[in-house]
Amino acid sequence: MRKRPVVLVTRKLPEAVEDRLRRDYEPRLNPQDRLYESDELIALAAGADALLPCHTERLTAQLIARLPESVRAIANFSVGVDHVDLAAARARGIIVTNTPDVLTDATAELTILLMLGAARRASEGERLMRTGAWDSWSPSFMVGVQVTGKRLGIIGMGRVGQVTARRARGFDMTIHYHNRRRLSAGLEGGAIYHQTAEELLPHCDFLAMHCPATPETHRLLDGVRIALLPGGAIVVNTARGSVVDEEALITALKSGKLAAAGLDVYNNEPHINAAFRELPNTFLLPHIGSATRETRDAMGFRALDNLDAIFAGRAPRDRVA
Ligand code: DGY
Repeated sequence: MRKRPVVLVTRKLPEAVEDRLRRDYEPRLNPQDRLYESDELIALAAGADALLPCHTERLTAQLIARLPESVRAIANFSVGVDHVDLAAARARGIIVTNTPDVLTDATAELTILLMLGAARRASEGERLMRTGAWDSWSPSFMVGVQVTGKRLGIIGMGRVGQVTARRARGFDMTIHYHNRRRLSAGLEGGAIYHQTAEELLPHCDFLAMHCPATPETHRLLDGVRIALLPGGAIVVNTARGSVVDEEALITALKSGKLAAAGLDVYNNEPHINAAFRELPNTFLLPHIGSATRETRDAMGFRALDNLDAIFAGRAPRDRVA
């Protein structure tokens, strides 16, 4: 019988995904869901044919250089691949895949939650209820910003951006967007295209970041661009922390230039900038854009479909390097 490929799985995955791994591979699982240090990961990878990591593992050029010769593939359990040095993997002849499509709905849903939560001061309200501090009602109590009918600007009109736009239309929002390439009229669905972020920003009552983290998008939303937003705008981010200059965002939230921010992603997760916690006008979630049962199963299956293809000598559907 052909030897089953050995797969180092860096984090605890959904049951159904681990069952399939046990059925088709020789998996090295992580039942305690511990975050591996680099040395530990290299030791555990000895003799492995593939890695199945998450965005929590930083697969830097140095780490990739230390992987054993046996590793042929890195099948990520994530759509984002900014945690992998793709050039280093390519140089070693290691195939890298991701999991697009399957987390689009879940992430767009969370974007809408962040918009609503930030605009309607959900964090403050929840805190009042949980601490028992709510003591009265008045017409001026906890007044937020209405979402319905406002202009939503989207930076990065890929899969998630497009679904966010569709959901936002349910709130009668007018959609503006900036993307490297203009979408076809069918995909645009009436959204208004802006060739540059600078052109887009003055039209955004709400701004949703949906671009991938690349050197080009690093701190794309910086102080200069925040200044172009209308006063009282609301920024939400389900993409990656690195696409926003967090110090500039904090300054704008403190000054009132921005009414609020809804954030699911940060630089240096999980040790986020403490100012975000201290500000009353932030609505904060812990990087859970894809965290639904359906989506996490689908991400695992998609990563396994990619591995299946690689070990069957076929081209994986989601090859990124
Ligand atoms: C992704 O898939 O990129 C999500 O952020 C979870 O890692």
